[in-house]
Amino acid sequence: MATTITRINKEQAWEVRHKVMWPDKDFDYIKLEDDDAGIHFGLFEGNTLKSVVSLFIKNEEAQFRKFATLQKEQGKGYGSTLLDYVLKEAKNHELKRIWCNARKNKMDFYKKFGLQENNVSFEKGGKAYVIMEKYW
Ligand SMILES: CC(C)(COP(=O)(O)OP(=O)(O)OC[C@H]1O[C@@H](n2cnc3c(N)ncnc32)[C@H](O)[C@@H]1OP(=O)(O)O)[C@@H](O)C(=O)NCCC(=O)NCCS
Repeated sequence: MATTITRINKEQAWEVRHKVMWPDKDFDYIKLEDDDAGIHFGLFEGNTLKSVVSLFIKNEEAQFRKFATLQKEQGKGYGSTLLDYVLKEAKNHELKRIWCNARKNKMDFYKKFGLQENNVSFEKGGKAYVIMEKYW
């Protein structure tokens, strides 16, 4: 089956976010105030949405947020393919920096894409985070 990456609408991103990230919280929990301003990307295998991520561009910088692959589809390379694509998209916007609040247990994953941790770390919802970033 063919793998495709396209822009999706925020409602499609919400479905996957909720299933993967916070299934025990209310559906509204995974919505972001900024979602209308975001560019949402989805990776499809055939017609099925497997992985999503949302990009928020501000002042020559982009933050990607809510990166999620359906649980039973993780570890198959979908997330890497999607993140590669989004990093290239961000570069096309002639940005200076891309960054994310990474779950600490995902630091090594982001390092493979050339992102480095800076010195900001924090805790939210009982999970430890660190800022990972890449400059062009
Ligand atoms: C983070 C996340 C989006 C990654 O998506 P994914 O589709 O699983 O990503 P990949 O399959 O490309 O990579 C996941 C791992 O599988 C490995 N992998 C990729 N393709 C593989 C393959 N064909 N065979 C074996 N391993 C493979 C990758 O190297 C990576 O290893 P690592 O985690 O040790 O670095 C996903 O784990 C997820 O949704 N997690 C829950 C939500 C979350 O934590 N989001 C990120 C917040 S910062």
